[in-house]
Amino acid sequence: MEFSIKSAATPGARAGCVVAGVFETRRLSAAAAALDRAARGYLSGVLARGDMEGKANTSLFLREVPGAGAERVLLVGLGSREKFREKQYREAVACAMRALASTGTEDATLTLTGLPVGRRDPAWKVAQAVMAARESGYRFTQMKSRVETPEPALKRLVLTVDRAAGRRAAAGLERGLAIAHGTSLARDLGNLPPNVCTPSRLANEARELAKRYRMKVTVLERPDMERLGMLTLLSVAQGSAEPPKFIVLEHRGGPARAKPVVLVGKGITFDTGGISLKPPAEMDEMKFDMCGAASVLGAMKAAGEMRLPLNVIGVVPATENMPGGRATRPGDIVKSLSGQTVEILNTDAEGRLILCDALTYVERYEPAAVIDIATLTGACVIALGHVASGLFANDEGLAREVSAAAETSHDPVWRMPLGDDYQEQLKSNFADFANVGGRPAGAITAACFLARFAGKFKWAHLDIAGTAWKSGREKGATGRPVPLLTQFLLNRAGRGK
Ligand code: BES
Ligand code: MN
Ligand code: ZN
Repeated sequence: MEFSIKSAATPGARAGCVVAGVFETRRLSAAAAALDRAARGYLSGVLARGDMEGKANTSLFLREVPGAGAERVLLVGLGSREKFREKQYREAVACAMRALASTGTEDATLTLTGLPVGRRDPAWKVAQAVMAARESGYRFTQMKSRVETPEPALKRLVLTVDRAAGRRAAAGLERGLAIAHGTSLARDLGNLPPNVCTPSRLANEARELAKRYRMKVTVLERPDMERLGMLTLLSVAQGSAEPPKFIVLEHRGGPARAKPVVLVGKGITFDTGGISLKPPAEMDEMKFDMCGAASVLGAMKAAGEMRLPLNVIGVVPATENMPGGRATRPGDIVKSLSGQTVEILNTDAEGRLILCDALTYVERYEPAAVIDIATLTGACVIALGHVASGLFANDEGLAREVSAAAETSHDPVWRMPLGDDYQEQLKSNFADFANVGGRPAGAITAACFLARFAGKFKWAHLDIAGTAWKSGREKGATGRPVPLLTQFLLNRAGRGK
């Protein structure tokens, strides 16, 4: 789909469909009122007859509206004007997109981008509209031999904004598209089956990004990791026939000597649990255990596409977690790259074992900040459900920055504690510490494990176990937290406003 921006002066000129909002009860938005004037009161007539109240999540198509300059007018309910905020705005755009998709309309003009949304500026409104539109148009069809639900017919979407808002709106369009493209890359990689989306495939995706956006890519192979001493990572990989990959992608958009932001993504391309085998129900969903890695590649793509003036390094430790004759046993003790020894009491707590070596590895970049992103614990799903990702940090300023980016991008997080009292649970009689801390506070003890490898830099950890994908009828990757990560990078680059 193609997006463009237009000043609001001429709503609907030659469009297949003009979309305008109606507040509850039967109150026309400014753009709808302009259409109504051109149509000599036709729209207010329709409302007065009771055809539309303006409730959220309702819409009404009108054909042959006189003077509208478009084949159809789509009225979208916005709910009460007083309660119309960010969430309602996004939902109104999504509702409009759903309605448009049910018709053969090829080009439409969306005037919702001209609505006041709290104190959000046109750049935000345009970016969010583009993201919501692309999200509702997403289909994953590459593994189907026959496409059952055809793509929506919509090819061109014009977003209208105030005359004065042109420059800001253009910035929002660029940003919205970059985030949308990064998000759909993350969704595609997450949705691919585990026999296709292997560690080698993730490495190839990184190589593609490097070529396209002139980044530097390095892929460490098993012997490289052995030489370095990434033995906790290799202990997870040793049960698998698929070769593990340690992927480093560098976007050097900032001054050569500026310290980079480092993103580390958990890349378990399938998590069986290993010898601590998972129960069979819904085990297929453990193909999504590389969604942290996918979000890193998605955010790198967005940074590349925007030529972000910032140094960003994406790091993806990638392997399967399989049982087998060579697999790690519960009770094995291995030495991490940091030199600390770990007693592996549960081979299903594998994410932390690959991330800890990655965290030690990135010390060499003297990072300005490190954020790891991981589908790390079922306990985080129990704590926060499918709404907020768990946020852990060893630095207050960084935690605030991540929270602010989450709020702007509508990709929520909730701060969770770290602390010495929880570290107690990781005590081991035989090694420096264990890889599990029992059932209580499972998301926190996992983060505490990682914290032991993040002492040399400002670090935040996002547990996305509940937010990276949906189960049930709508099963599929969400692409979260690409919007949050990209917004964080934009803010760091001074481009957030
Ligand atoms: N990838 C899983 C976490 C997960 C489970 C995410 C279910 C989403 C849904 C992770 O590797 C894992 O298995 N964690 C264990 C840790 C436990 C053994 C301490 C868990 O959460 O059960
Ligand atoms: Mn596991
Ligand atoms: Zn896992």
